[in-house]
Amino acid sequence: MTNQHIAKMPPYALAEFSVPSGVVMTSLAQNESLRAPSPLAIKAGQAALVSSAAYPDPDYHILRTSISNAYGVDPDLILCGAGSMELITCITHAFAGPKARVLTSEYGYALFKNSAMKVAAPCDLAREVSQAVSTSALLQAVTSETRLCFLANPGNPTGTALSNNEIREFRTRLPEHVLLIVDEAYGEFAQAHEQPLFDLVDHGNTVILRTFSKAYGLAAGRIGWGLFPPATREQVQKLIIPSSICTVSAAMAEAAVQDQIYMQETCKMTAQVRDEFIREVRSFNLTCDDSHTNFVLIRFSNNEMSNAADAALRQQGLVTRGMGGYGLGHCLRVTVAAREVMTTAAEVLEKWSREYLR
Ligand SMILES: Cc1ncc(COP(=O)(O)O)c(C=O)c1O
Repeated sequence: MTNQHIAKMPPYALAEFSVPSGVVMTSLAQNESLRAPSPLAIKAGQAALVSSAAYPDPDYHILRTSISNAYGVDPDLILCGAGSMELITCITHAFAGPKARVLTSEYGYALFKNSAMKVAAPCDLAREVSQAVSTSALLQAVTSETRLCFLANPGNPTGTALSNNEIREFRTRLPEHVLLIVDEAYGEFAQAHEQPLFDLVDHGNTVILRTFSKAYGLAAGRIGWGLFPPATREQVQKLIIPSSICTVSAAMAEAAVQDQIYMQETCKMTAQVRDEFIREVRSFNLTCDDSHTNFVLIRFSNNEMSNAADAALRQQGLVTRGMGGYGLGHCLRVTVAAREVMTTAAEVLEKWSREYLR
């Protein structure tokens, strides 16, 4: 017999890639990078292939040292996992359960809720204000049973961000018994303007998560990392599947994190193409917020309009992500891809809006 709480769980929803037959599909649905990883990472991955007969170093010593050098953090506090997805899942497994509740915001990243379901932990959602996290709503939703608070900053799917000072203030007001997990999957896109939050980890009840999937262009490699207080790290490590990052991926990440210039260029290119796309979309009267990430959330007047725009884009092979699963059925999330792809997407939307809104 399947465990009851698993039997009741819906499968984790991923993008739906159907396009008309004969049309070449381009994904704008999974917030992947607009360019390939650093050439140094590709070279390192190729070189690592010859070591494939051996299991990877389970402690990822070289990778942790490389991350530590690039981000100025203590390598002993770093825990690596097969994407930040593995880390989120293991954190929940370690600390949440039927009487240890999970708290996140209304439009918080879907995996937070999904991970809570896996351990039969109730997941409370604090309302957002104008599709941005409200720390006061989160604080109001805390109970004596709240054990984990997940906050993606910037947020997915909203793309909105709190300032790091707001997060610091939030941490001081959050009760000590709540472990705060700040998921900075898109942190590199926002970091040029901010003092990082890594020092919060020293206070013992905050975890900061990062990933190689976005700004480093290594989504296929499945490499995430987090900075953990020692006691938290010790428990979560027990739940990570041993050697879950393969040697080739680890080698690619080691080289990628040493090539900060390439990563920063990727972020700059992304921001330029993203902001051009936002300007174009607004110029034909569609609504979207400024984004701090590698995606743009377009808000239509209603679900019907969003579905019609989705269909028009799919006709041209462009697959974006419908947001019905988040209760945002009137929105489409569009990953920022190469400039020529985004120009085509904007042209399709312009033509569609002229016809649809006529
Ligand atoms: C907020 C957030 N956290 C985590 C992830 C998962 O990242 P990874 O590829 O490292 O598992 C994503 C992926 O889209 C994300 O948007």
